[in-house]
Amino acid sequence: MENNRSSWGSNLGFLLAAIGSAVGLGNIWGFPYKMGKSGGFTFLIVYLLLAIFVGMIIMVSELAVGRKTKLSPIDAYQKVSKKFAWIGWLATIAPFLIMSFYTVLGGYCLQYIALNMTKLSFGNDAVAMSGGEIFGAMLTTPLGCVVFTILFIVICMVIVQGGVSGGIEKFNKVGMPALFVMLLIIIVRSLTLPNASEGLKFMFVPGYAVKAGFIESSPNLITVLGTAGGQMFFSLSLAMGAILTYGSYLSKEENLVKNSVIIVASDTLIALMAGIAVIPAAVANGIANGTPVGQIKLSGPNLLFVTLQDVFSNMGKVGPLFGVIFYVLVLIAAISSAISLMETIAAHWIDKDLQKGETDTRQRNVLIVSLLILIEAVVVAADGLGSNFSPASLLGISAPPVFLDCFLDFMDCWSEGIAMPLGAMLMALMIGWEKGPGLVLDEVAHGDPSAGFKAFYRVCVRFVVPIVMAFVLAGQMMDFFGGSQVIWYIVAVALLVIFWVIAASGEKKTE
Ligand code: PHE
Repeated sequence: MENNRSSWGSNLGFLLAAIGSAVGLGNIWGFPYKMGKSGGFTFLIVYLLLAIFVGMIIMVSELAVGRKTKLSPIDAYQKVSKKFAWIGWLATIAPFLIMSFYTVLGGYCLQYIALNMTKLSFGNDAVAMSGGEIFGAMLTTPLGCVVFTILFIVICMVIVQGGVSGGIEKFNKVGMPALFVMLLIIIVRSLTLPNASEGLKFMFVPGYAVKAGFIESSPNLITVLGTAGGQMFFSLSLAMGAILTYGSYLSKEENLVKNSVIIVASDTLIALMAGIAVIPAAVANGIANGTPVGQIKLSGPNLLFVTLQDVFSNMGKVGPLFGVIFYVLVLIAAISSAISLMETIAAHWIDKDLQKGETDTRQRNVLIVSLLILIEAVVVAADGLGSNFSPASLLGISAPPVFLDCFLDFMDCWSEGIAMPLGAMLMALMIGWEKGPGLVLDEVAHGDPSAGFKAFYRVCVRFVVPIVMAFVLAGQMMDFFGGSQVIWYIVAVALLVIFWVIAASGEKKTE
């Protein structure tokens, strides 16, 4: 079977694809405002520490399990573990749920590219509405959202049908450098706007977000840990099967530790660059229009689709050109992530067919997966972030908790909120206590890790990762379900203890 399984054309191709998976809406949209809202520099430091002690560890682990088994998540975990075989299901269902809204957001990007192209061709007044009016009109026009979501899914489908090296790798080899250049252009434009420095202060000066009135008070460290942890996992594509699947196509010669460092560093760099591109522009534009600094919208969907559209509309004749460049950049980031999610789901059936001796079933399997994604995505596209209907309105609940606000939040809750932190916690317990760190370290040995890395890995996978993930899980449940923080901490710690005991009982392990 292995001979017929796909593989990357080169290590560089793999790296660009993995960076493509990591760099997505999470970087360009989530990172900048979460950083600002969670106390700027404090958030950045917590984020970096988590990326090194937790993100790196899970990244190496996923790549190792993928490459060792040469299988997609469900079969890979089944092969590796008796007790935790079901993590593979978490890591396949979660990407499926993420795709329900990721494709809708991709569709929004397509619509904003079309909008800015219209303005570019026919003048800014061709669509003389404010960003807020445009966004509102788009959300309450379900047909358009559905059509562009389908278009986005078709683009991803065609790329993934092209194969691992023929489609995914090719797209990223062109897309990632292009994204980088476009981001640089937007950064230069953003930083040369008057008052752009206020935006930089929001991001980098400790306490400034509070002083300027963006937030009432700095969140406590535990809240920052939860927010930064959730953001880091989503942004690095971890515990979603994607990195494991990409690792399963990697050749034995490649150095997994070095590759992980490059992916984590690039993703963080792009997130910071995106912040520097987006926040100063939004703040500068707000100040130019007389909005009190603290009231400039720097969070939620508004940032990308309302505030920034206003920035481009207010830039005069060249504005729409920057608009096109910016939304194309976001589109590339969205596609390169979405194709990794699609590949993760489809790989399961492609592998199954290979095991039965059937080769060349990629086209068919990717088509079926795309159709399934389309069904769920249509619901998310049509509800218009809750403008048209929502889980809460269908259930007749007023004042609902966040996860019932709209179908996007509902899908995000189970995937990013629960499956992701739980999956990462279980994976660390499985490696650290059920199987022993040798499971990963032996595989890493093909790329020759140092003794220092081995010691670092053992401590992190056994203690740091499971404990941090319990905090992240509690933070996510708190955000989505509301209610008492204490209760969610008790739930998360209880889960941690139960699974820790299960993992550590019986059998001998490999160091
Ligand atoms: N990392 C992507 C982003 O930042 C999202 C993603 C999550 C992609 C999980 C693949 C797997 O937007």
